[in-house]
Amino acid sequence: MKFSKRSLAVKPSATVKVSNQAKQMQADGIDVINLGIGEPDFPTPESIDQAAIAAINSGNASFYTPASGLPALKEAISQRIKEDFDVFYTPDNISVTNGAKMALYTLMQVLVDEGDEVLIPQPGWVSYEQQIILAGATPVMVTTNDEFKVTEESLNHAVNKNTRLLIINSPQNPTGTIYSKEELTAIGNWAIMHNIVIIADDIYSSLIYNGAKYTSLIQLDDNIAAQTILVSGLSKAYSMTGWRIGYIAGAPELISKVNAMLSHATGNPAAVSQYAAIEALTGNQSMVEHMRQAFEDRLNKIYPLLQNIPGFDLPVNPRAHSISFQMLKRPLD
Ligand SMILES: Cc1ncc(COP(=O)(O)O)c(C=O)c1O
Repeated sequence: MKFSKRSLAVKPSATVKVSNQAKQMQADGIDVINLGIGEPDFPTPESIDQAAIAAINSGNASFYTPASGLPALKEAISQRIKEDFDVFYTPDNISVTNGAKMALYTLMQVLVDEGDEVLIPQPGWVSYEQQIILAGATPVMVTTNDEFKVTEESLNHAVNKNTRLLIINSPQNPTGTIYSKEELTAIGNWAIMHNIVIIADDIYSSLIYNGAKYTSLIQLDDNIAAQTILVSGLSKAYSMTGWRIGYIAGAPELISKVNAMLSHATGNPAAVSQYAAIEALTGNQSMVEHMRQAFEDRLNKIYPLLQNIPGFDLPVNPRAHSISFQMLKRPLD
């Protein structure tokens, strides 16, 4: 069998592999903690499950939906963004995707060609690099400072005439780094100056701990917001990783290209998941805070214990949503 160059170039997701292995070990009765993948361990809240069951029972979940999602779900996403960030995207400027992963994959297919370069702050989520390669473009790793943040200096070092996109993931997987408003403003202005589009992967924006302040690129001035494409989803905030609902919000000409691509790639995100997502976004939001608080409590419990392990050197302020990278970065002497 002959395989395409793309399929030969792509590497399987290392975090999915580790996670599957950990799940198998758990199924085998082995006591193991799975730090492989960003997956909340709570079951999806009951009200969301019930909305899905109602959609099945009514027959609504039986049929294709528009490729870019149900109008009612786009409306719910638009309202949620407005409520959480005080930024308004009309529902028509939103595409619903099979998780944020498909949102990012589709954006690469729509926005870059062979010879184009995409900037990824290091360390970053494993799929960015492979999705860029699958689109025929070149991933370029940007070095980060002691707080795992890119700066104008490191961006200047990485940019050239082929650079098209910069991915900013705040809070960042795997470090938990949160960029401040001032840092994002500097990055946004830098991107405008170099005519580079920013993809803001805000999937972890509801998992902010110990009073850390969160700002999204879309909340900055109009020019920076216009230079930014928002990607997010329901996996992390609502403990809905398996339901596969994510979204893109951006300019109309982008969304129409994304929708055309999705109409051939996925048909639509599973209808039953879309009905569940409407309930998640429009229903009582207290469970989001309930789960966030539980993660914060766990973080604050484990952090001092890890700090006491000889050879581990962790940042003083336990704001990270994921501490796995810091644990790996400074190996035992
Ligand atoms: C940084 C980041 N972006 C996007 C995703 C994709 O999430 P999903 O496809 O479940 O919405 C993940 C999942 O782990 C992630 O860590």
